[in-house]
This record gives sequence, structure tokens and C-alpha cells, in this order.
Amino acid sequence: GKVAVLMGGASAEREVSLMSGNGVLQALRSRGVDAHAFDPAERGIGELKTEGFARCFIALHGRFGEDGTVQGALELMGIPYTGSGVMASSMAIDKVMTKRVLLSEGLPTPKYVLLRKGAYSSADVDAVPDALGLPLIVKPAREGSSIGLTKVMNRADMAQAVEQASMLDADILCEQFVDGDEVTCPVLGSGSTAQALPVIRIVAPEGNYDYQNKYFTDTTQYLVPCGLPEGEEAAIQQLVLQVFRTLNCRGWARADVMIDKVTRKPFLLEINTSPGMTGHSLVPMSARAAGISYEDLCIEVLRTAAL
Ligand code: DAL
Ligand code: MG
Repeated sequence: GKVAVLMGGASAEREVSLMSGNGVLQALRSRGVDAHAFDPAERGIGELKTEGFARCFIALHGRFGEDGTVQGALELMGIPYTGSGVMASSMAIDKVMTKRVLLSEGLPTPKYVLLRKGAYSSADVDAVPDALGLPLIVKPAREGSSIGLTKVMNRADMAQAVEQASMLDADILCEQFVDGDEVTCPVLGSGSTAQALPVIRIVAPEGNYDYQNKYFTDTTQYLVPCGLPEGEEAAIQQLVLQVFRTLNCRGWARADVMIDKVTRKPFLLEINTSPGMTGHSLVPMSARAAGISYEDLCIEVLRTAAL
């Protein structure tokens, strides 16, 4: 039957989603799938039902798409969809909620302070560097692609960083900065068949893997094989699989990890349940290193579509 590739949406990552969605759309069509673009920010989601779509490939990023809302609507309409279910999606979109779950399972994640709109004072903001040290990271709890993120180097820059994040989310995550290797690792499959793909190590200009360096420059280096010391890659893959299972993710995801350069200890930053599929994105890159083409990857993910 007809497949809808959900793309666009109303989050700050709309443009990224359009790039992901168009890539997926072309790939599915090249394999003979009757795939059509669908932007839930421009059309009522109920049209998926009236137009007789049999399945959805979710290529939406961020809120209103990766966060359980669209998944909930599809559950109500009885249309199978790719990726995680409602609960895993809504937990994973929220980096603070993710941390709470990780910590409750004894999984390593950087120390943090949550500032919640209407519930913090400027004294609370001033106290963050005392708690976390400098530099530290400030970001909206529920956005992606580093949008609204600041690496705070000096106390004096705290207020502006918090202000910037607060324009995108009422929940502001302040996180200890882990100085070391930045790596990411996708998971493909579900339940007992879930497997981790090769780890990618990211070396961005001046260590700054921001929105521009994620999607638009060609100066970010992606190392796969990642070149980490013996055993570390396998340990990261194990850890990422644990997170995937702990949050009860489904189909696919990609977890982002920092490795402390001194202790070599890995820290989980988050897990993306609707990872990027753009020309610069990491899941397709890792899959390719494992011998899975972009087209095969799309077909594989579509196959996991479920309710
Ligand atoms: N949030 C972007 C799309 C990613 O994780 O790939
Ligand atoms: Mg993310």
C-alpha cells in the first residue's frame, strides 16, 4: 500500500527534516515503494487516514514529530509507523527525562541542572557554574541539531545562554561539559534483534559541532572506523544498546556520547529516536560502513513499521 514519508513539521528542525524526508522519499521510490511526501504542519494529520496510507515513515525531527505526539495520532488512526512508540519517543525527546531514566538505571550521563521557566531566579542561574564547572553546556531540553545551544566559557555569558535556550523551550538543560572524544552510534532493529552499527567519531572545526558544521560545512571530519582504542568501540556499542532497551526504543535510533579524554569514561548525552537522514547525517554514514546502502537502510527501517 501507499507509504507516507512524514517530513517538515513545526519544530526548529523543520529544514533538517525536509532534507531527511526528501532523501528517504527518493530512496523508497527508487526501490519501487509507492511513497509520498506528507507535511503534518501543512495538512491535517487525519488526511493520512482518508487518503488511505498504509504505513508512515517518520522523518520528522524535534517536537511535534519525534516526541510522541504524531506517534499518538497514528496509534489512534491505526496506521503503523517507523521508529519508537509514544512513551519512548516522548522520553527520548526530553534530554532531562532521558537523564533521569539513565541515572535510575546506573547509566553514565553528565551532571546537570534543570532550569524550568517561571521557577528559577537569577541567583539560580549564577549558581549553575558552581555546580557544574566551566565550560558548561546550556540547551533547550527538547530540541535537536544544537539549535539554541551555547557552550558557556565564562560566568558572564550564563544569562544570555539561558535566554537563548528559553526562546525555544520552557525547560532549560544546563549540562557539565565533557572534554574529550565526541562519538555517535546508531542502533537498528527492535527487541532481541536490535544491533549497534559502527561508532563514528566526530572531529568538528575547533570542536564546534554546531548547526552549521552539522549540515552545511564540509570541514567536519567523520571517522569511521572511529579509531578509538581497542575495546572502547565495543563498550560504546554495548552502552548504546542498553540505552535503547532501557527506554524501550523500537526500529532504529542514534545515541550521542562523549568520552572523557582523561578517564576514557563514556557519558551518554541523549538518544535520537528519529535520527537525521540528510546527506551529512550520521546513521547513513555508519550504515554504509557496515555495508548497508542508504536505500537498504530506508527499506530496513520501513520494514520495522509497527503499531
Ligand atoms: N536531531 C538530528 C536530526 C539528529 O539527531 O540527527
Ligand atoms: Mg538530538
